[in-house]
Amino acid sequence: MIEMKKKSKLTFDTIPQIYSESNIITLYNGDCKEFLNQFEDNSVQLIVTSPPYNVGKEYEKRMSLDEYLEWQGEIIDLCVRKLAPTGSICWQVGNYIEGTGILSESYPLDILLYPMFKRNSLKLRNRIIWTYGHGLHASYRFSGRHETILWFTKSDDYIFNLDDVRIPQKYPGKKGYKGSKAGDFSGNPLGKNPSDVWVIPNVKGNHVEKTDHPCQFPLSLVKRLIKALTNEGDIVVDPFMGVGTTPIAAMELSRRGAGSDYMYSYYQTAKARTIDASNGVLRQREDKPVYEPKKGTPLTINPFE
Ligand SMILES: C[S@@+](CC[C@H](N)C(=O)[O-])C[C@H]1O[C@@H](n2cnc3c(N)ncnc32)[C@H](O)[C@@H]1O
Repeated sequence: MIEMKKKSKLTFDTIPQIYSESNIITLYNGDCKEFLNQFEDNSVQLIVTSPPYNVGKEYEKRMSLDEYLEWQGEIIDLCVRKLAPTGSICWQVGNYIEGTGILSESYPLDILLYPMFKRNSLKLRNRIIWTYGHGLHASYRFSGRHETILWFTKSDDYIFNLDDVRIPQKYPGKKGYKGSKAGDFSGNPLGKNPSDVWVIPNVKGNHVEKTDHPCQFPLSLVKRLIKALTNEGDIVVDPFMGVGTTPIAAMELSRRGAGSDYMYSYYQTAKARTIDASNGVLRQREDKPVYEPKKGTPLTINPFE
């Protein structure tokens, strides 16, 4: 395992922008292609990212759908080149929306981007549905409450630490009722496979992790991917890191995190969050089931019934 610079304390001004094997974390303020080219080919264990969706956010340069897909394809090709033979890529996307109101049309980006991974001979292991309870209320279609994560591997020899991401069973006390195992607990004592549908609140409103970024990852979502798909000391990269959620999660899990963002303000926030994380004070939502409101309160009693 690579020896990491554990002893030298991170400060806001000393977080490196240039990757070196001994960095615990590398945060680059600039274009993701320049950043990815800092890595040797076949060296990165995990790439987790959520690219812009080309929907007119403050950090996007709007392009035609064809231009967008071509640009994404170039970055995917580069990511695959940098990926270790045992490595994984997780590409998290939603929909590209063209037009407004009743004339608007949705284009599912995962379906449009899938061929770009296949042309690089990657294998899809899961299409994970990430679902959450809050978002915009649509008038001309059902309100969107999920996005997807395409998890690909470069080969059949890949890391999958299922035991590290098991979740509590619904009926942990359930026992077998027939055969040689009758009377024994039937579930895995470590919990169950978390499945390919993940219910994790998105970072909106008064979520404890909220920063100035409009679409940041929840830490628990990236942490689940990092725990399952890498081992301690491995390098985890996010070319569109926003406020640094992926590299910070990697650092907190004793991996080496690296990411880039071309927006200076997000890069600054990523550095501030890194310092908070290294001091153990970064606020984060515990990975626990979503809160169910109590019945019979003024907020939950329907006044129209
Ligand atoms: C969907 S956001 C990612 C948010 C991130 N997952 C987080 O937790 O904060 C996409 C990010 O990509 C950045 N970005 C867009 N084009 C870029 C480029 N060419 N190079 C580097 N970053 C870019 C944007 O500034 C934006 O912060």
